Amino acid sequence: MKPLVSPSVLSANFARLQEDIKAAEKGGADRFHLDVMDGHFVPNISFGPMIVRTMKTITKVPLDVHLMISDPDKYIPEFVSAGAEFVVPHIEASYDVYRSVQLIVELGAKAGIALNPGTPVESVEPLLDKIDMVLIMSVCPGFGGQRFQPPALKRVKDLRSMLDKLKPGVHIAVDGGVKKENIAEIYASGADILLAGSAVFETQDIEKAVRELKRLVEKP
Ligand code: DX5
Ligand code: ZN
Repeated sequence: MKPLVSPSVLSANFARLQEDIKAAEKGGADRFHLDVMDGHFVPNISFGPMIVRTMKTITKVPLDVHLMISDPDKYIPEFVSAGAEFVVPHIEASYDVYRSVQLIVELGAKAGIALNPGTPVESVEPLLDKIDMVLIMSVCPGFGGQRFQPPALKRVKDLRSMLDKLKPGVHIAVDGGVKKENIAEIYASGADILLAGSAVFETQDIEKAVRELKRLVEKP
């Protein structure tokens, strides 16, 4: 599948959000990734639908909203009406995850499902008729700037071969520790959506950082 580079806004400078986003857009950002954390499902608090709405006033690039929150069904409608094109709850966070993805689809957005490092990739199988993407966490969720956990590569390979048999159109995203040094290997393992926070926003030149990440996976 064609690689998509999606900068994770958690690492942006919120005092100059618009400039950071525009720079990433110029570099060729395919989507923006928004990390919602509730201080309950993960040990950190980030932001809610207001930032999704703000992002909508800054960019037309599609937004994917990664819900690291307990009881996601309660908040999914608000994120969809704020403008999220993709909504991605965690499989571990929902009382009934099938109901969550169904809710997202009914509301007119695309559904993804995120998996913590310890959750078997086979657990997404019953959801495949409803989802557009599986997000593999390559760090423990909660914070940007952590080191990529290599076992994620085998998880991506296993998931890709399962998807190729059952539902080849489903995308795989990798989230956490994606850098210049490992992005090509992650793409080669079968993940086509490459999420990167610190590797994009904690650099001197955001536009160049995105362009470079894209170049590394878009070899002719
Ligand atoms: C972590 C978040 C990630 C994070 C990635 O819980 O889900 O999206 O922003 O940041 P980096 O790329 O710096 O690891
Ligand atoms: Zn994320």
